[in-house]
Parts: sequence; C-alpha cells; structure tokens
Amino acid sequence: MSKMMKAVKSVVGQPLVLHEIERPTPGPQQILIKVAAAGVNRPDIIQRAGRYPPPPGAPETMGLEVAGTVETVGGDVTKWKPGDRVCALLPGGGYAEYALAHEGSAMPIPEPLSFVEAAGLPETVLTVWNNVFEMGRLKSGETLLIHGGASGIGTTAIQMAAAWGAKVYATAGTDPKCRLCEKLGAVRGINYRTEDFEAVMKGEGGVDVILDMVGAPYFDKNLTVLKDLGRLCYIAFLHGSKVEGDLTRLMLKRLTVTGSTLRIRTDAYKAKLAEGVVTHVWPMIAQGRFRPLIDQVFTLAEAEAAHARMEGGEHAGKIIMQVGG
Ligand SMILES: NC(=O)c1ccc[n+]([C@@H]2O[C@H](COP(=O)([O-])OP(=O)(O)OC[C@H]3O[C@@H](n4cnc5c(N)ncnc54)[C@H](OP(=O)(O)O)[C@@H]3O)[C@@H](O)[C@H]2O)c1
Repeated sequence: MSKMMKAVKSVVGQPLVLHEIERPTPGPQQILIKVAAAGVNRPDIIQRAGRYPPPPGAPETMGLEVAGTVETVGGDVTKWKPGDRVCALLPGGGYAEYALAHEGSAMPIPEPLSFVEAAGLPETVLTVWNNVFEMGRLKSGETLLIHGGASGIGTTAIQMAAAWGAKVYATAGTDPKCRLCEKLGAVRGINYRTEDFEAVMKGEGGVDVILDMVGAPYFDKNLTVLKDLGRLCYIAFLHGSKVEGDLTRLMLKRLTVTGSTLRIRTDAYKAKLAEGVVTHVWPMIAQGRFRPLIDQVFTLAEAEAAHARMEGGEHAGKIIMQVGG
C-alpha cells in the first residue's frame, strides 16, 4: 500500500493544487481517517491568506473537519476500530486523502446522514454548541438573534436553536437568504442591507442571546437590543474587532459578553464538547429536526473553485469537497 497521499497545497497568493505528501501515522491517542468528504470553512480562507496560522503541532494542510472511515488507530485508542464510520474535528489537515484526529474529536456519523452531509457537521456544530448553548446558556422559549444566518455556522445554529425550542431571528445579505433562514426555522430573516436589525428587534421585544460573527459595527446595537441578563457571544469579527459602545447598557441590563475560538482548545476540551454534541444534537438529527444544509459539493482537485465559491459570498450553508472515488 502506498505511503503517499494527495493533499491540497496552499501557498499564499497561489492557486490551490494537489500534491503528494507522506501519509501521516497516528500517535497513541490518534486515529487515521480515510477521508470521504471534507468541509470548507471561513477560517480556511483566512488561513490561506496568511492571517490564521495553524496552532503549534497542527498540520500545514488546511481543513478543520472531515467524514470518512477509520483506517488505523494508535496504540492507546479505545473508542474506535478500523472500519468505523466517523466525522471528526481536526486542528488541520482535512484537505487530503487521509487525516489524523484525536480519538475524542471523532464522533459517529449520525443516521441517516451521508459522508458529504456529515463532513459539514463537526466545526459548525461544536462551535454553535459551545457558544450558543454552553456559554450563551440558550434556553427553550428564549429569543436568539444570529448574525450571518445563511452561513455554514448560521444555518446550523438556526436549526439547532429552533429544535431546542428557541425563537430565532437571523440577519442575511439578500431576501432569498432571509427566506432560506425562515425555511430552516427562523421566525424572521432580516436583510442587513435594506433593514436595521436594531429597529426590527426592538419592535419584537428584544433578544436573550446573540451569536455574532460581524464584530465592531454591530456591538452597540447588540447591547441595545439585548434584554436584561442577555448574552452576546462572539465567534468572529468579519468587519472589525475594535469596538465602541455604551457600557451603561451592559451594567443596567446585567449583560454577559463572551468570545471563543475552537481551534486552540485542548484535545480534552474538544472531547467533552463532542460528547455533549453526540448526547444533545445527534438525536435532533435522528429525529429529522436538523439536517446540515449543503450548498455545493466539489472534488478535492477543485479546492480552488470551492474557495472561490465561499469568497464570492453567494453560498448558503456548507461547501464540501468529496475525496476519492
Ligand atoms: N470562534 C470559532 O471557534 C469559530 C469556528 C468556526 C467559524 N468561526 C467563524 O464564524 C464565521 C462563519 O463561518 P462560516 O464558515 O460559516 O463562514 P461563511 O459561510 O462564509 O459565513 C460568513 C457570513 O458572514 C455574513 N456576514 C457578512 N457581513 C455581514 C453583516 N454585515 N451582517 C450580517 N452578516 C454578515 C455573511 O452573510 P451573507 O452571505 O448573507 O452576506 C455570511 O453568511 C467566520 O467568520 C468564521 O471565522 C468561528
């Protein structure tokens, strides 16, 4: 069996192309996955631009999530065996024929999903679970506002929160994307190019939790629309990280502002998150109340086109690359 594999090579300023590299060998607590499909995420675009370097010890190859079949396992692995069908969160290396994952970052593929659908789960579901449900403490019956509702993260968050019993609002950049958010479970999509979410949400009585990837321009408006004891959860700042706002609102309403980034967390932390997701979110999928929305499927050799699709901003939901035959 060849010990080489195809992987996507990324050099700043150059097109993505396949090249041959050595197939990795699992460490004691790692599994080697024969990749069937790999998810494309906005952080990949940022990494490729040279603004999001892989953390120490992570592969240079991009790719934060895959689905496939366990090929081999490290000596201390107890959870998986060759042949198991898994999806997994990775510190990198997913744009390849084989990828390494810590055993705790892998999860069974929930019925009835395909490899392509399952490859779109780990990065988004773990991020949403961590930020909206754990840190944001979203409860059934509460109101959630998601900025970027048509994104991979947003389409996941809308469905998970609606299945949880929350009343969901979402901002998006076109009317069709707003209608898509509503189809996925939002009570109202808000077109951020033609409407002011602050005015809309004030009219709706305010918000308990906000999931924000936009950053600076929305900070003060977010503080305004949050109800007493509201939670503002940051996962990105696509339009700036330096904020200005009135802290009086934060104090008078006893608000909580949180932020996190998943990739730098420890394997032990990610394993706990994955356990929470398998317990709480996989049943939603089995019951048909949540299904990852796939925008478009490319092959690994088409990585450049997959990235162009995301950078063009017309996508809604997850972009996936199919790997192998
Ligand atoms: N912290 C973490 O652990 C973590 C983990 C994963 C991802 N992330 C971050 O989460 C974000 C989403 O990731 P993704 O992979 O789902 O990317 P994506 O599909 O490309 O989503 C980006 C979204 O941003 C929205 N957007 C841009 N400007 C906006 C504005 N002014 N108001 C409202 N929405 C706006 C876009 O909306 P339209 O297309 O409708 O214009 C688009 O839906 C990225 O910034 C990523 O870095 C963070």
